[in-house]
Amino acid sequence: MRQLRSLDWFDPREYYSFARKSTLRAQGLTRAATEGKPVIGICNTASELNPCNRHLTQVAEAVKRGVWAAGGFPCEFPVISLGEMFLKPSAMLYRNLMSMDVEEMIRGNPLDAVVLLGGCDKTIPALLMGAASANIPALVVPGGPMLSGTFRGQTLGSGTDGRKHFDLYRTGKLNDDDMAELECSIARSPGHCMVMGTASSMALVAEALGMTLPGAAAWPAVDSRRMAIAEQSGARAVAMATAGPEPREVLTSIAFHNAITALMAAGASTNAVIHLLAIAGRAGVPLSLDDFERISALSPLLVDLKPHGRYLMEDFAYAGGAQTLLTHLSPLLHLDALTVSGHSLGQNMAPHRLHSQDVIRRLDQALSPDGGIKVLRGNLSPNGALIKVSAASPHLLESRGRAIVFNSKDEMLARVNDESFPVEPDNVLVLRHAGPHGGPGFPEWGQIPLPKSLMARGITDVVRISDARMSGTSYGTVVLHISPEAAIGGPLSLVETGDPIHLSVASRSLTLDLPEAELARRAAARVPFQPHYTRGYGQLFLRHVEQAHLGCDFDFLKLNP
Ligand code: FES
Repeated sequence: MRQLRSLDWFDPREYYSFARKSTLRAQGLTRAATEGKPVIGICNTASELNPCNRHLTQVAEAVKRGVWAAGGFPCEFPVISLGEMFLKPSAMLYRNLMSMDVEEMIRGNPLDAVVLLGGCDKTIPALLMGAASANIPALVVPGGPMLSGTFRGQTLGSGTDGRKHFDLYRTGKLNDDDMAELECSIARSPGHCMVMGTASSMALVAEALGMTLPGAAAWPAVDSRRMAIAEQSGARAVAMATAGPEPREVLTSIAFHNAITALMAAGASTNAVIHLLAIAGRAGVPLSLDDFERISALSPLLVDLKPHGRYLMEDFAYAGGAQTLLTHLSPLLHLDALTVSGHSLGQNMAPHRLHSQDVIRRLDQALSPDGGIKVLRGNLSPNGALIKVSAASPHLLESRGRAIVFNSKDEMLARVNDESFPVEPDNVLVLRHAGPHGGPGFPEWGQIPLPKSLMARGITDVVRISDARMSGTSYGTVVLHISPEAAIGGPLSLVETGDPIHLSVASRSLTLDLPEAELARRAAARVPFQPHYTRGYGQLFLRHVEQAHLGCDFDFLKLNP
């Protein structure tokens, strides 16, 4: 049994214990309601600036019910909330800041355990990073996805189908009235994006890591079972206050193996790679891109969800969600990994009714023999780059083409929207200065829109490479996270329009086919990139953020093993 750390705040020998208790009485909270009870923090990312998480106010009420019923004292508190839709230049710029907020609020307050409420892309990663650093018993309640979109008889997924319809708008096949109707049809309930984008991926990862109760990842935000699992999580946190486990007892190397296996089997977001690297760094677990490559080769693609497949998160939930997926993956998992339930991952698994074997396949019915994300190296990405093969065009996975280089997002948008832009289907579109330093903040610009001049010819995909990220809802033959990025002098900074580039997914390489002497000449003539910030948080970010292949955490936040 752990001693309640909250008792340190209520030592009867200390004046401030009296003062603290009096502030509780000031809220009408009696001694009977609070005295000697485990204090359970409810770390809430609800915000009107983050519509995906807005409903977490209601989810917190369900958590509180569970805490009171189990004999605890719930204390809800806010932290920074990162909304993918609104934050500029990128929510990713602030992920580490949010993780520091989470860590310090947990550590600095009289909390015995914490329930972490997140949803939109960066919020669950930041919650897990902060909780791993604070290392006080904690579990996650994901906010859940939106209901499926529906528009003129079609079922639509946010992000993925939004982009497809926006391309129809760009080419005049939909008008302003169509888009106004689509706005109301594609996102029709609270919750996060309902394809296997980054938010869905990170909810799945949280469950596979063992950081949620079983079954927490997939229920839609408005499903009654979302509230039920929130209540159960509140009750479980009360038990964890004295029994543990602590986050770093759960976040072990075998837990990361399980999470990466589930990630690959789901064809999930490339962003999850960055977040898992960062969470592992906070937990003191060695993890590298090579681990993703190795586990990907062993993990068949089992989940048929958009953006790579056909279905949406509602379908995934009704097919049994993460628990069905993990059950199917059992032979590939470490079933002895401890979870926040107090049981192992294997013990959590119950026989599940599988309603649609189309949505979550069995191992012998896999959609593809290995996982969707591959690591590319070569003289353009010496420290690694990623491609999500499951969302790419098979005929482009072995490509040679001449580069067309964009130095900024504005330049890129101007040219792809210019109907006279000279581009061929075998050109390689290159966007640089979009990494952690260059963006700044590593924005999701990597899915460069198809040039209008190619769309007019019926071309639906071309090779695109960048040091940016892309939304987990995106698709296409897109090489991302090139490391080191151009803004700190990575080889991407040396590419000129017309240069030959060779992409070979089979040999895991991305190569600029130029002589070494020419590359050295260009490197010597390179003009340094001017930093975006000279003060404040931005400057702290630029000084300490690590590159994509390390997870983009601040160097001073990692756990020293
Ligand atoms: Fe929040 Fe997609 S915009 S999850």
